[in-house]
Amino acid sequence: MTKQCDLVIDNVRIASMQKNGKPYGILTQSSVAIKNGKVLAIFDGSQESYHCNKRYNGENKWLLPGFIDCHTHLVYGGNRANEFEQRLQGKTYTEIAQQGGGIQGTVNATREASEHTLLSSAIKRASRLVEEGVTCIEVKSGYGLDLDTELKMLKVAKQIAEYLPVSIVTTYLGAHAVPKEYRSNPDDYVQFICDRVIPAVARQQLASCVDVFCESIGFSPAQCRKVFAAAKTHKLNVKAHVEQLSDLKGAKLAAEFAAISVDHIEYLDPKDIPALKQSGTVAVLLPGAFYYLSETQKPPVAELRANKIPIAIATDLNPGSSPIASILTIMNMASVLFGLTPEEVLYGVTIHAAKALELSSKGQVKTGMDADLCLWDIEHPAELVYGINQHRPSAKWFAGRIC
Ligand code: NIG
Ligand code: FE
Repeated sequence: MTKQCDLVIDNVRIASMQKNGKPYGILTQSSVAIKNGKVLAIFDGSQESYHCNKRYNGENKWLLPGFIDCHTHLVYGGNRANEFEQRLQGKTYTEIAQQGGGIQGTVNATREASEHTLLSSAIKRASRLVEEGVTCIEVKSGYGLDLDTELKMLKVAKQIAEYLPVSIVTTYLGAHAVPKEYRSNPDDYVQFICDRVIPAVARQQLASCVDVFCESIGFSPAQCRKVFAAAKTHKLNVKAHVEQLSDLKGAKLAAEFAAISVDHIEYLDPKDIPALKQSGTVAVLLPGAFYYLSETQKPPVAELRANKIPIAIATDLNPGSSPIASILTIMNMASVLFGLTPEEVLYGVTIHAAKALELSSKGQVKTGMDADLCLWDIEHPAELVYGINQHRPSAKWFAGRIC
C-alpha cells in the first residue's frame, strides 16, 4: 500500500549518527520520507511505497542530522575586545575577573541593553551557527544576575526561534558570577537565586535547566549544592561549568544531583569519572575556551573514552572565553586540540549533544525523530571535521521544512 508523506529526500548517503555499530551510524538505505516534521521512514529508493507531492534529489550527497550546539552564552550586551588586548599583554582571565572585568563587565553592558538590542545581536550570532548546519542551540542566561535582567535574557533567547529555523533550549545560569551588589555577602546572592529566581524561572517556564560556574572566581561547591537542590525542587535539569580552571570536585557534586552534563572539565580528576558514569552525565568539551584562554591542561579524553562517557562538543559562544560563532571551527579544534576522532566529534554535536540537553527526538536521522537534517556536498563525513571554513550545507530542513 502506498503511504502518504510531505516530502521524500531521495538519493542520499545517510550518516544517521545512530549508535548502530556502524561508523557514523551509516545506513544502507538512500531515501528519507518526512511527515509532520518528523522522519516517517528511511527506505531504499527502489521501493515506491511513499507518495508525496515533493521530492528532493540529494544527488548522492551526505545527509546528517542538524548539529546541536549544547552550550552557548550568545545573548549578551557589548563585547570584550578590550579584555582581549589586556590578555595579550599578559593579564590572565582570573586576574581580569578579580578586578571587576570579565563576566562582570558583560553584566554591566547586558543590564543596560534594551531587549531589542540584545535580541538583534543574539540573532546575528545565532545566524552564524545556523548557516553552518546548527538546528538546535542551548542558550544560557548569566549576564544579568538580577531578577529582571536574567528573565529578560531568557525571554530574548526563546525569541530567537521566532526568527531563525532553529530550536532553542534555555538554561538559567544565575550562579555565573557574584554581582557587585552582593560582593560582600555572596551567600545571600545564592539564597536569592534559590528563593526568588529559580521559582520565577520555573513558574514562567523560561528555562529547562539550571547551570552554575563552580570555580574560585565563581561559586564554591557548597554554594553550588544549594543551587542544585533548588533546581531539583523545581524539577529543572542540572548542568555545571566545572573543573575549567581548577579541580574543586564540581563534577562529582554535579553527578550527585544527576546532572545531565558537566562542561569544560580540563582539570577533572580521572578518579571522578566513575561517578559521571553512574549518573549518566554527558561530558561537554569546549575547545574554544581552551584555545582562547591559551589553556594547556587538556580534559582527560582517554579516561572518558575508557569509561564510555558520552562526549559532546560545543562552541561556548560568549564574549569572554570563547567569542567563536562557528560550530565547524570548534569541531576541528576538538580534533586538533583534544585528539577526538572526526567520528567522535560528529557524535559530539549530534546524539551526545542531544543527550546533554535531554532531547530524545533530536541528533539522529531516525524514524520518529525530528526531521532536522542537513545535506553536505562531501565525499566522507570526516571532511566536516578535517578542514576549516570549507563547507556549508547544500540543503537544510528544519522540522521537515526546507530552509
Ligand atoms: O563557559 N566559565 C564561565 N563562563 C563562560 C565564560 C563567560 C565569560 O567569560 O563571559 C565559559 O567559559
Ligand atoms: Fe560556558
